[in-house]
Amino acid sequence: YSHSSILNILKTAPLGQQISVQGWIKSLRKQKELTFIEINDGSTCKNLQITLPSNLSKNITVGASISSKGLVKQSPKGQLEISAEDFTLIGECDISKGYPFAPRKQYEPEYVRENMHFRPRTRLFSSVLRIRHAATLEIHNYLDSIGYFNIHTPLITSNDCEGAGETFKIEPDSEKLLKSMAKENQPLHSAYFNKKAYLTVSGQLHLETVAQALNKVYCFAPTFRAENSKSRFHLSEFYMLELEQAFLNNLDDLLKVAEDLVKHVIKALLDRHLDDLQVCTNGKIDHLLINKPFIRISYLEAQQILSTKLNKSSLKGIGKEHELALTNYFEGVPVFVINWPENLKAFYMKQIPENNVAAFDLLASGVGEIAGGSLREDNFEKLKSRLPINNSEFDWYLDLRKFGYVPTGGFGLGFERFVQFILGIENIKDCIPFPRWPHNCKL
Ligand code: 4AD
Ligand code: MG
Repeated sequence: YSHSSILNILKTAPLGQQISVQGWIKSLRKQKELTFIEINDGSTCKNLQITLPSNLSKNITVGASISSKGLVKQSPKGQLEISAEDFTLIGECDISKGYPFAPRKQYEPEYVRENMHFRPRTRLFSSVLRIRHAATLEIHNYLDSIGYFNIHTPLITSNDCEGAGETFKIEPDSEKLLKSMAKENQPLHSAYFNKKAYLTVSGQLHLETVAQALNKVYCFAPTFRAENSKSRFHLSEFYMLELEQAFLNNLDDLLKVAEDLVKHVIKALLDRHLDDLQVCTNGKIDHLLINKPFIRISYLEAQQILSTKLNKSSLKGIGKEHELALTNYFEGVPVFVINWPENLKAFYMKQIPENNVAAFDLLASGVGEIAGGSLREDNFEKLKSRLPINNSEFDWYLDLRKFGYVPTGGFGLGFERFVQFILGIENIKDCIPFPRWPHNCKL
């Protein structure tokens, strides 16, 4: 017997061969002679049917893990199945002992989330996990193919890049360490790094230093935001793809990079991972068939559409409700909103006439903002004047502008928001293996 994954069996159709498989039982139908078992081994969303003589199948249940071997045949319905002589029970699953999912039942996402340790076993979530994997690979491969280098930016940092005060402060929680510091006459009150340190809200500023040498760079790493929001669009810990490119003077060029990347990843998922996409979206993939160019409107135009066409005028900014209304207005085509008032955006964005900055938000249907970026301020004095007063944390950042500086631009794509958009998932908490949000860090 050779061992094979279900994915491999379905790909190679080894009819007439003896194969051994292993997996978890997803459904079970006992008839007089034969028992029909569907197993899944995680390699694909597809299950494989195993037929087994019913006199052997006494103590197996849905949820149990088994291994089995037998002849690969075609079922009367034309599907591949394994006609097994026997099986080995690896781990039993007696749902009467408190297993939270009964066979063939659908559960609300909130209930599934309360059982986070069993969530990967649900059909939907296992597909979400494979899609995350596939999208991650596509992002790396695509960026590599167009000449970007992956840079590992630190997760511990001393600056708040976005200046929004949404940082998590970190400090060691160790008696042992404090004692050893005291022994070396380091003052007990001084912080571990001699200054405040935070979990990063963005790798951008570090990327900017590297862009001044490697030109085209990106990072794709965890990012942390201490926002008091339990909304279906916010996480305390999320993955962000951030990209920075030097010799970039034009916002249009940056929009093109973002649009091409988003389209490439979606196309690759449609081409190569349609099965899992269909599980996650319930077959609704129309929003992914984006053949049109993304819409480009200015902040001012967005406000005009909101007030004159959508009856949603807003004095300050563009909130979630507005974002969703705008993408509906453009019938689901993603929308770049560009040229924002500088007082609504971060200090590092490049100033342009009329107190605007050369920045964009990319809005996607059902989710709103999935990415944000800008050209970076290249003028030393202008940048200095927008920094928080007396903030020496940013001395090195200013310094970049002094020596051989070239203009750069970049953006950050929220990976879970992107997945949420692609899969049409209601709540972002169902787009990440172990979501963190206020008061929720159990598992
Ligand atoms: O718009 P943001 O704050 O931009 C930056 O951090 C820039 N430094 C990026 C850059 O130019 N390099 O965040 C970027 C994206 C948002 O568009 C959103 O998709 C996502 O990160 N995001 C969140 N995703 C989940 N939960 C949260 N709390 C998020 N906050 C931002
Ligand atoms: Mg933003």
